Amino acid sequence: MDDAGKTKEELIREMAGLRKQVQRLQSQDRRMRASLRESQQQLQQAQKMETLGTLVAGVAHEINNPLNLIMYNLPLLKKIWTDLLPVLMEQKAREPERKYGGFSYDFLRDNLFQLVGDMDLAANRVAKIVSDLKNFSRQSNVAEKTPLQVNSAVKYAMRLAQTTLRKSGVRLELDLAPDLPLIKGNLQSIEQIILNITVNAIQAIAHDHGEISIKTGFQTSDGSVFIRIRDNGRGIAPAIADRLFLPFVTDKQPEGGTGLGLSVSYSLARAHGGEITYQSREGEGTTFTVFLPTILNRRAFRILVVDDDEQIREILMEALTTERQFLVEEAANGIEASIKLGTYRPDLLILDIFMPEMDGLEVCRSIQMTPELAGMKVMITTGYPHHPKLDEVSAMGFTNVFSKPFDLQEFLAAIEKILCEG
Ligand SMILES: Nc1ncnc2c1ncn2[C@@H]1O[C@H](COP(=O)(O)OP(=O)(O)OP(=O)(O)O)[C@@H](O)[C@H]1O
Ligand SMILES: [Mg+2]
Repeated sequence: MDDAGKTKEELIREMAGLRKQVQRLQSQDRRMRASLRESQQQLQQAQKMETLGTLVAGVAHEINNPLNLIMYNLPLLKKIWTDLLPVLMEQKAREPERKYGGFSYDFLRDNLFQLVGDMDLAANRVAKIVSDLKNFSRQSNVAEKTPLQVNSAVKYAMRLAQTTLRKSGVRLELDLAPDLPLIKGNLQSIEQIILNITVNAIQAIAHDHGEISIKTGFQTSDGSVFIRIRDNGRGIAPAIADRLFLPFVTDKQPEGGTGLGLSVSYSLARAHGGEITYQSREGEGTTFTVFLPTILNRRAFRILVVDDDEQIREILMEALTTERQFLVEEAANGIEASIKLGTYRPDLLILDIFMPEMDGLEVCRSIQMTPELAGMKVMITTGYPHHPKLDEVSAMGFTNVFSKPFDLQEFLAAIEKILCEG
């Protein structure tokens, strides 16, 4: 029907619909622009940090050598002084007024040891700063990344923060999501990020009803995990709020803060492909959120589940598709599996051993004889892990075995480990 045929009401309704659509598009446009602006700012920030990182690495390196010399010699000086004291005491009997560098024997006896001790402390503090600086500059080469669960990093970090927490009287609340996908990372680095942010949170609380909550979770929009650390402290001072991740930005100078905690944390998060964001309200509290990409979010892995037990297939398919977003196909016996393997080419084959018609052992044999399937990973599942057939399978090089009945979360974690190896 053309416009001329429409009633006035119909046209008004159509107009209202169009107006709504325009509003929707406009708000979508606003959102996209805001997100673009945010990405540009993040990129700028990342570039700035990278340049700083290079600079800082150079400086840290230059400081390290002379510092080592000082730290090596200071204890020596202490020892020499201890040996010298009795000699000087004898000397005092002969020459009571004698000065050493302008100081009397009595003054030096009472103060020199402390003086050298203070120097030792100061040198150690510089060493700590240099080590932090080195961490900060270790932008993209965090050593040894392994598949890990961020919840473990939180627990380890809390163990380290325990004493500080107890002394402060701040209440800690943990809310750790039970079935998070793994990340590929360096446990110590992730721990350090969490610890730095938590210590800051503790330090930001001056009242006696302090609370810190740490929550972990999964963000479906981009497949990353997050660690959110919230405090009800004084909030971030507006004067430094937009420079927190730069080194040496601190308002704790009198208490000995170096302003390196957050910059180190930021660069460690970047080295994991992650991000840190924060929101704060003066007088009310602050929330820091660390986002880290998971191993599996880069692409959807393909899995073929082979089991003659329909119930097991269903449970596995459900868990693998809804909890991990894998692409999953199923087969009820070895013959079906062999046919599917020809076209589906999964990244991982989950293979039951005891099945009617063609069993898992025979499937393994046929995989071995098919060069195109050489890179495929296999996870054997069985209720009889000690059966001789398993030895044969293992002798062929298929060594990933999971015994039934199994804990689903453990099973998912084991699968992730296999998928991200090699
Ligand atoms: N949870 C928080 N609440 C309020 N301010 C915070 C919080 N976290 C960080 N800040 C502010 O950010 C500054 C920088 O933190 P950062 O951890 O980098 O250095 P620092 O804590 O001052 O020193 P250190 O090197 O010992 O960690 C802090 O001095 C503080 O002012
Ligand atoms: Mg700090």
